[in-house]
Amino acid sequence: MSDTAIFPLTEEHKMIQKAARDFAQKEIAPIAAEFDESGAFPHETIQKMGAMGFMGIEVPEAYGGAGMDALAYVLALEEICKVDASHGVIMSVNNSLYCHGILQFGTEEQKKKFITPIASGEAIGAYSLTEPMSGSDAGTMRSRAVRDGDFYVLNGRKSWVTSGPVADYVVVFMLTDPSKKQKGISAFLVDAKTPGFVRGKKEPKLGIRASATSELIFEDCRIPAENLLGQEGEGFKIAMTVLDVGRIGIGAQALGIAEAAYEAARSYATEREAFGQKIGEFQGTGFKIADMKTRIEAARLLVYNAALAKERAKTTKERFSLPASMAKLFASETAMFCAHAAVQIHGGMGYSKELPVERYFRDAKITEIYEGTSEIQRMVISRSELGLK
Ligand code: CAA
Repeated sequence: MSDTAIFPLTEEHKMIQKAARDFAQKEIAPIAAEFDESGAFPHETIQKMGAMGFMGIEVPEAYGGAGMDALAYVLALEEICKVDASHGVIMSVNNSLYCHGILQFGTEEQKKKFITPIASGEAIGAYSLTEPMSGSDAGTMRSRAVRDGDFYVLNGRKSWVTSGPVADYVVVFMLTDPSKKQKGISAFLVDAKTPGFVRGKKEPKLGIRASATSELIFEDCRIPAENLLGQEGEGFKIAMTVLDVGRIGIGAQALGIAEAAYEAARSYATEREAFGQKIGEFQGTGFKIADMKTRIEAARLLVYNAALAKERAKTTKERFSLPASMAKLFASETAMFCAHAAVQIHGGMGYSKELPVERYFRDAKITEIYEGTSEIQRMVISRSELGLK
């Protein structure tokens, strides 16, 4: 039985899955190690991914996207991340954190102006919520947006912005009414060419090194009032709604990393010999292989199930926070488990930069942290189950 046998993949799903797999093998595999080492941003391959339709998979064709469904998105993202999680997160942020919020909450003009260049891959989008003193407790941000006639003036410091050093457009969250705390947060669309938009230091990172991360500093950055996304005070809800979508993407990213680590470990276990036999014949290795495979299949079911829940919500408008958080939590812990086991099975070679296994290990860790740590996912899941929210 194939891995995806229980999921009714359409011809269109199979087509995008294969297109992403072929693209990743041909275009990304040869450069992944080099870009990981240098930390350079892979502009050329990202543009090619745009031309393939991967940067706005669920965005309607009218706004430059591929007009496909939520399952198509995770299938493609999984294939890209199986080869390189850095390309994967750039793709995920463009599709989920950037495009989704504007599609759901934006005006027709905002969709045309701010989605089209991103979904077609000509430009890069980012999402900016976190601040130096406000990470998991996202509602405690300090950055301010003050209305001034037909403009808003933005001031503040944002941190850990994926694609911050290269983004052309950013969805940013700031307080418009500090007295209302969370309910005083609003969302804005900012063109990076606006005076007062300053890119801060690029973060040196353990993994996903070819994806650029930085602070963003807003110094009297005046943007047109029409760039308010949704209503004033709706920002926290927009941020959380979009993160539910983003978390499914990170689940797919983690699934791709886990599969890459598993496949490397499985083939090494059938080739490498020690004490007169293949190392896979030792129970210690065989049981690791069994646990990796089982966890990957469980993660796949959760990630695809969350994608289907998201697809259904396009009609029902129901929240899918629970399946999204469960998918991200389990898939990211599976990625860490599989990458750890793959390094161990490879022994010294797993620690060497000659093979990509050490990169999978470094890349896996972030999936347990960004777009909500594992602890935050457990908080969302337990609050939901206990009826606390
Ligand atoms: N969808 C819609 N609305 C939501 C929601 C969701 N998923 N989650 C919460 N809300 C609403 C609630 O219904 C509530 O609304 P009302 O007041 O009208 O009832 C309001 O938002 C406040 O909700 P909570 O009381 O639950 O808020 P909280 O302060 O307890 O926080 C939290 C909830 C889940 C912990 C949230 O703060 C959270 O997700 N924190 C993690 C933040 C995060 O993931 N940051 C990552 C940033 S992106 C990144 O990693 C960088 C990058 O570039 C990739």
